[in-house]
Amino acid sequence: MPLIHPLIDTSSVVSCWELPDPQWVDRWDRIIVDPRIKDSLLNFALLGLLTLRGTSEISIPMHRMVLLEGPPGTGKTTLARGFAQQAATILFEQTESRSIFVEIDCFSLSGDLLGSTPKTVAKLLEHTLPDLAEEAEFVFVLFDEVETIATDRRSLALDVNPIDVHRGTNAFLTGMDFVAAQLDNVMTVMTSNYPENLDAAVLSRIDLTVELGLPGEDAVRSILLDTIREMASIIKWDGDETAIDQLVGPALGLDGRQIRKAMIEAAASDRDVAMGHQLLAWDSIVSSLERRSRPLREAAR
Ligand SMILES: Nc1ncnc2c1ncn2[C@@H]1O[C@H](COP(=O)(O)OP(=O)(O)OP(=O)(O)O)[C@@H](O)[C@H]1O
Ligand SMILES: [Mg+2]
Repeated sequence: MPLIHPLIDTSSVVSCWELPDPQWVDRWDRIIVDPRIKDSLLNFALLGLLTLRGTSEISIPMHRMVLLEGPPGTGKTTLARGFAQQAATILFEQTESRSIFVEIDCFSLSGDLLGSTPKTVAKLLEHTLPDLAEEAEFVFVLFDEVETIATDRRSLALDVNPIDVHRGTNAFLTGMDFVAAQLDNVMTVMTSNYPENLDAAVLSRIDLTVELGLPGEDAVRSILLDTIREMASIIKWDGDETAIDQLVGPALGLDGRQIRKAMIEAAASDRDVAMGHQLLAWDSIVSSLERRSRPLREAAR
């Protein structure tokens, strides 16, 4: 359940939750990435929020900032939330203190509001966040699709006034430095499809960059299996690995979201399956995956 925070008046921009929350476990467990990625995220959270608290910001210029970058549908937003959940769980086990998760809607901060963005960003980072940071031992902040507010100031191909871009990005940088210096219990997670559009000074402040690429063969297999298990009411799988092999080939090249959606699409293509009266045919899943991946293969040729 979202936490309604009395201090927040920027309600369309900020949402808060208390963690750990058992309902968030899937966001960590069911996003399939190289285990080393998950490990490095958790290690960074423990280092920044437990071990290196109160250290000199000159000796250790840590912003406690993580960037998850990669193509659409590769699990960035979900994993960012899952990371907060999993780190909050470990921190709770270690300290018995709970965490707050704060999600910032970067689109609400930009767009039509662009003219007022610098003010809103400054207020958010220098007033709202400090208030929240007093409410919990640990705070995780997510800036989803952060390139909308941390835009590269050198970028010319923009449809907006470059002065506004400058001011917005400057406000973000100043705010990040303020948070780093004043709030050592805040960890910031950012996601981006377009890291090349992020300002160089923002990139320079990021402590850990994690690249989420398209799933490889093993990950594709795990995503297919996870979806099949969740669709157990309409897919009968007897544990035969060669049956899964049939799906892996056509699914290669798709992102995690597309793989799961192809299976939903296959199930939706038949009324009896949709009603739960009949099982989903394996061939139908293969065709659905092929339909989605064919254009990608042709484009790659
Ligand atoms: N690596 C993955 N493992 C398992 N499922 C995945 C993976 N990547 C994506 N998915 C599925 O796709 C859904 C959407 O992922 P998510 O929104 O986190 O992607 P994203 O990278 O943030 O995409 P976008 O860049 O379009 O915002 C997830 O909830 C999950 O069902
Ligand atoms: Mg996303």
